[in-house]
Amino acid sequence: MNHDIIESRLGLLTVLILIVISVGGLVEIVPLVVSSADSQGDVKIAPRPALQQAGFDIYVREGCYLCHSQQIRPFRSETERYGAYSIAAESQYDHPFQFGSKRTGPDLARVGGRYSDDWHRVHLNNPRDVVPESNMPGFPWLAKASIDGVLMQRKLKVLRMLGTPYSDEDIKNAPAAVQGKTEREALIAYLQGLGIDKPRGSGGEAP
Ligand code: HEC
Repeated sequence: MNHDIIESRLGLLTVLILIVISVGGLVEIVPLVVSSADSQGDVKIAPRPALQQAGFDIYVREGCYLCHSQQIRPFRSETERYGAYSIAAESQYDHPFQFGSKRTGPDLARVGGRYSDDWHRVHLNNPRDVVPESNMPGFPWLAKASIDGVLMQRKLKVLRMLGTPYSDEDIKNAPAAVQGKTEREALIAYLQGLGIDKPRGSGGEAP
């Protein structure tokens, strides 16, 4: 009966729908604004060095995100396998974000330091040389292509416009930082930097 009263009055129905949507929205938004540890607030993370940023762009170009996520959820099954759960500040300089939900391969949010550079070189060239059962494709061409320093400098400038706090010095030195490096070296530098910035003691152990 009560339903009839609401459903036959368009104005009232609209107001009630708006109230329900607002409450739902606030429940999601307010915690993000007020809790500091799990959002951007207190956590200071340095922007990626030019070579790692070059690696990020290659990661996106090669579609690594189609098989790998970069977001460890706050569940024991995830934190025991991959390490401390991800916080928003860690991906604040990712344009675009690499969260993802498709895991043909493992999550890579904390892969930094897990393997040696040499392991990555072999693995990126032909994954089956180190993981015989792997179905990840090889990316042998990365070892031959080099990074364009001038382009990298322009990319850093654009990222600064978008809010990444690169200094004038970072931008000035960008071409030298990537000089003579291959795309494979840049990608490995990026992978080795993943997850090592996580501030200890800010939460993130399995709940
Ligand atoms: C078709 C799906 C697929 C694509 C595309 C892919 N991977 Fe993988 N990746 C996997 C699978 C499956 C594994 C697990 C087996 C292995 O270690 O090779 C893996 C493992 C890895 C590992 C080791 C992770 C760990 O914790 O053991 C790294 C690092 C990695 N991939 C990086 C990359 C990068 C960088 C790219 C893009 C250049 C990429 N992958 C593209 C499927 C993929």
